[in-house]
Amino acid sequence: MADNLHIIEHPLLKAKLSVLRDKNTNRRQFRQTLSEIAMLMTYDITRNIPVYEVEVETPLEKTKGITLHREVTLVPILRAGLGMIDGILELIPNARVGHIGVYRDKKTLKPVEYYLKLPDNVEETFVILVDPMLATGGSALAAIEILKQRGIKELNFLCLVAAPEGVKAVHDRFPDIKIFTAALDRELNEHGYILPGLGDAGDRLFGTE
Ligand code: PRP
Ligand code: URA
Repeated sequence: MADNLHIIEHPLLKAKLSVLRDKNTNRRQFRQTLSEIAMLMTYDITRNIPVYEVEVETPLEKTKGITLHREVTLVPILRAGLGMIDGILELIPNARVGHIGVYRDKKTLKPVEYYLKLPDNVEETFVILVDPMLATGGSALAAIEILKQRGIKELNFLCLVAAPEGVKAVHDRFPDIKIFTAALDRELNEHGYILPGLGDAGDRLFGTE
């Protein structure tokens, strides 16, 4: 396993991912479970977030505590990335949120960019790029290019299911990107879908299938 690929293992996460994989899971359950998973994964992805020491006064005495050193910016790749944002915000309610609109052309599988709005000074913050699916890696690479152009040096990518092809594509170009996923699946099919995967995340989330 490459140093910058982190497969987050936890029975709760695996059980919830199984709910998402199930084709009989309805939209309401899908939304709720995706959000819960994102919250659980946030715990791990922020494990090495920079902090500094502060003094705290308890009702009894002074002691040392910590506070986050930098603001956090979440950048969902539209549309499916949106399904993970509320869960992350449960744990980091003050995070800023930028948006990158990219969809994958159904025939060529190439990314098409259609929207971009990032907070000012995003490069000074701890940035988490969010998309549940890393398939060919085209969408993630397009988003990473945009963020790198904004001067972001250290970038964390949070997904849910990754294909080996997508991980390789991202790390061939940007070996320093830290990829966090709940599962590394087997392969892509001839239409670029992850096997076993969970189908089209955006369609299942928004009912557009
Ligand atoms: C899905 C998914 C990723 C992309 C992954 O989005 O949410 O963004 O495909 O595939 P790739 O790694 O091969 O680029 P999609 O293009 O279906 O757009 P949507 O979220 O708007 O449905
Ligand atoms: N996008 C999805 O939503 N699912 C896949 O399996 C591949 C790309």
